[in-house]
Amino acid sequence: MINNHFPTVSGVLVVLAALGTAADRGAMAAPAHIPEVPPVASPGNTAEAEAILGAKLLVCNTCHGGNGVPRSGVTPIIWGLQENYLAKQLNDFHSGDRDSDVMTWMATFFSQAELVPTAAYFAKKNWPARSAGAAAAAASPPAGVVVCQACHQQNLVGGLAAPRLAGQTYEYLIESMRRYADGERTNNPIMMAMMKSISPAEREAMARYISGL
Ligand code: HEC
Ligand code: HEC
Repeated sequence: MINNHFPTVSGVLVVLAALGTAADRGAMAAPAHIPEVPPVASPGNTAEAEAILGAKLLVCNTCHGGNGVPRSGVTPIIWGLQENYLAKQLNDFHSGDRDSDVMTWMATFFSQAELVPTAAYFAKKNWPARSAGAAAAAASPPAGVVVCQACHQQNLVGGLAAPRLAGQTYEYLIESMRRYADGERTNNPIMMAMMKSISPAEREAMARYISGL
């Protein structure tokens, strides 16, 4: 009996380890399927190093999409996001400053030393073109969006000060704005304060408009 059930139990443990929070995982042994040490590039061969990292990062496509278009709206577009922003987020997932069950676990796929090359890898890719069926931008921007441009730049295309928002998925935008407002995403105090100061209806109008840009 015990033998018959063992595969199910260990399967569940693997899933729990995959979904578990950092705290849950702390109580468990390291999951057995954490990736092996990658092959090592010849010293000085950056093209080879990039190819090795690229192969390792194929796992990201499962959710973020092999062509830069995420498989579901709750998953953000990461292709073409600002490099400094990507590096900060990966670092925040790694350290736990930004809480996300799936991305905290994903961050274990790369070492601290690979965070910046990973950010550079995705930043160099092109932001995906809008699909024909995507919602068109609202005719006029909701009041308040002008404030966002101070950091997110004109048309919210992003820059050094703040990431691109234009054309990001609606579901991800509305959820990340809510998470700042409700104190669930705590890795930027200014964004938290700003999102707390506007109503859910205003956030909804902004997310709708920004995703259509
Ligand atoms: C199982 C699905 C899944 C996989 C696989 C995955 N991600 Fe994510 N990723 C998400 C989701 C969902 C979010 C949004 C998390 C949140 O807001 O809390 C996210 C967020 C991110 C963000 C933040 C983007 C932003 O706009 O703030 C980055 C960067 C990122 N992922 C990079 C990666 C990298 C690099 C890999 C591969 C090592 C990867 N992801 C693999 C689902 C996934
Ligand atoms: C004072 C500068 C500043 C202003 C003004 C500002 N933001 Fe931000 N915003 C940031 C920074 C910096 C980040 C990245 C925070 C981090 O490290 O996670 C950010 C992140 C975000 C994110 C998360 C992006 C992602 O990919 O996860 C959203 C959504 C967002 N801002 C929406 C807005 C909206 C809407 C407005 C206007 C109402 C606005 N912001 C105004 C600086 C600003």
